[in-house]
Amino acid sequence: MQRKFAFYAFFVLLLALLSSYFLLDFFAFDPKKNITFRYLEDLGEQHISIDDYRQVIGNHQACFEHVRRKNLTSYYERKFSSTSSISREIIDQEVEKDLRDGRLSMFKRFRSTKNITTMYHRNKLVGLYNCLPENEVTNDSVMIYNVCLNKDFRGKGLGKVLMKNAISHCQAKEVGRKLSLLVYDDDHLAINLYKKLGFDFEEPDEDFPDEFYYFNKSLMVYSGKTQD
Ligand SMILES: CC(C)(COP(=O)(O)OP(=O)(O)OC[C@H]1O[C@@H](n2cnc3c(N)ncnc32)[C@H](O)[C@@H]1OP(=O)(O)O)[C@@H](O)C(=O)NCCC(=O)NCCS
Repeated sequence: MQRKFAFYAFFVLLLALLSSYFLLDFFAFDPKKNITFRYLEDLGEQHISIDDYRQVIGNHQACFEHVRRKNLTSYYERKFSSTSSISREIIDQEVEKDLRDGRLSMFKRFRSTKNITTMYHRNKLVGLYNCLPENEVTNDSVMIYNVCLNKDFRGKGLGKVLMKNAISHCQAKEVGRKLSLLVYDDDHLAINLYKKLGFDFEEPDEDFPDEFYYFNKSLMVYSGKTQD
């Protein structure tokens, strides 16, 4: 009787172990499994629905607005540094006003953004980037711009998936041209990622716009020497 019980107990335990293994595998969140890309010539209405457009803007804003806020704050602090009567409140108001204006103009401006790639997890837009053959930064390279991944999807290897797609897509689009990008000097996470994928810092030309020095952005160029 005891032996029979032990046999049944063992059998039930084995069944429980097996089913939890398959259930875990089924529900495990592996975002890389459900990723697709869309390559859009531009964000005109014929290429993207207004809902997707809103998602692009929302995603971009979530990625970059805090950086813009930081830059604007330091800009106004420097601008008003000699005026002792200017209060913190006024600086904050100026910053918020610029951010509001920026959001409005971005909503219009993004409509004419060229060569944008959107990345989806299932049907949700989770990332994007642009390839810009003509850009204000360098004459001889294609810039990868606006690299941006939804916050909830970071740290799971999807930034790498997005960037690997950017490298191969931008290279195929402009065969033989260098690839480059700009990065904030204190964005160690992005710098790590870019270095791993084969980008190195490069001294920009003399005509590198002052704005980029001002906001501590550096130029990185793709050498193809990956660290993986
Ligand atoms: C930059 C960005 C796309 C990276 O995406 P991500 O999903 O976080 O990156 P991944 O999970 O693919 O990780 C890639 C590499 O980044 C680095 N990394 C990721 N998370 C990290 C963390 N918490 N701390 C330090 N490094 C980290 C690692 O080097 C990692 O490589 P590894 O997996 O071989 O260790 C994303 O963080 C983002 O959209 N940030 C906001 C917008 C932005 O800053 N864009 C860059 C503009 S230049």
